[in-house]
Amino acid sequence: MSFRLQPTPPARPNRCQLFGPGSNTKLFEKMAASAADVINIDLEDSVALTDKGIARQNTIQAINTVDWGKKYLSVRINSLDSPFWYRDVVDLLEQAGDRLDQIMIPKVGCGADIYAVDALVTAIEAAKGRAKRISFEVIIESAAGIAHVEDIASASPRLQAMSLGAADFAASMGMQTTGIGGTQEDYYMLREGQRYWSDPWHWAQTAIVAACRTHGLLPVDGPFGDFSDDEGFRAQARRSATLGMVGKWAIHPKQIAIANEIFTPSDAAVQEAREILAAMEEAKSRGEGATTYKGRLVDIASIKQAEVIVKQSEMIAGQ
Ligand code: COA
Ligand code: MG
Repeated sequence: MSFRLQPTPPARPNRCQLFGPGSNTKLFEKMAASAADVINIDLEDSVALTDKGIARQNTIQAINTVDWGKKYLSVRINSLDSPFWYRDVVDLLEQAGDRLDQIMIPKVGCGADIYAVDALVTAIEAAKGRAKRISFEVIIESAAGIAHVEDIASASPRLQAMSLGAADFAASMGMQTTGIGGTQEDYYMLREGQRYWSDPWHWAQTAIVAACRTHGLLPVDGPFGDFSDDEGFRAQARRSATLGMVGKWAIHPKQIAIANEIFTPSDAAVQEAREILAAMEEAKSRGEGATTYKGRLVDIASIKQAEVIVKQSEMIAGQ
């Protein structure tokens, strides 16, 4: 470990972020009643250009009137290359009450993008005497975003979470796919005439996890477009969880239960983690730094791995 200790991310569950367009008012109550930990009302790409103004007003009204329970409530504003984002920020910060927790900034390309939004939000909070400080989350979904991911991750103390947006990312990178996450037909290795599919999102996900863990943010996997494919979603979510991500978006209610299941450590995993911690306690009392658990090596690094699982499970149980 470096002399600089790794910061801990916010201790709140972020297993599933449910999205719904700000133009579709009939979804708001359903989103509030769902089992998602985070709600993202969208003003960006699921809203038609002609509906930007009305979606903004619907969203402000919903923030102020719907009972969102304990959900972490976030609004995705328009991107900084659009003419809409400043009005999104001004109206949200001036007209939405303290129930709003977070703003999601899409298509970020550098730390200065976050700085710009931070400056505007900070000024409005001060001018309006807002009691609660709004947090930020960002989407990495461009070549610039992934190239500058660490600059972005360290850009503001407001930042809490960072998602990979597979579709815009693929477009920006010039990837030959129209799929939104998941296995891609043409991304395979050949061995003795057999195809083996590998994961084209792996590098971007891992870069995001590393930037998030370095700066104390929550790394999140973005959308999986084919909401009829439960097993595809499950496989994608499992890979993300294995790589260190804490949750995944849902773009349809069907995906919520699967995300919650995958990103909640299973009873068996928690049990095993506790047994490893107990085995290491015993080893320590014998003055040993390593021992055997179920026929395999466990050592001081295993304590840290096991603690990640136990801590995550306790945090979710205690929400
Ligand atoms: N949140 C809450 N409830 C939702 C929902 C959502 N995002 N999407 C659909 N539902 C509800 C529907 O209203 C319907 O409810 P009902 O049984 O009471 O009638 C039920 O779930 C089944 O919906 P279904 O008919 O399968 O889907 P749809 O055709 O109504 O909607 C989408 C499909 C994809 C248009 C819709 O899910 C959606 O808008 N998703 C979010 C898109 C988005 O926000 N994208 C931006 C991030 S990538
Ligand atoms: Mg996008």
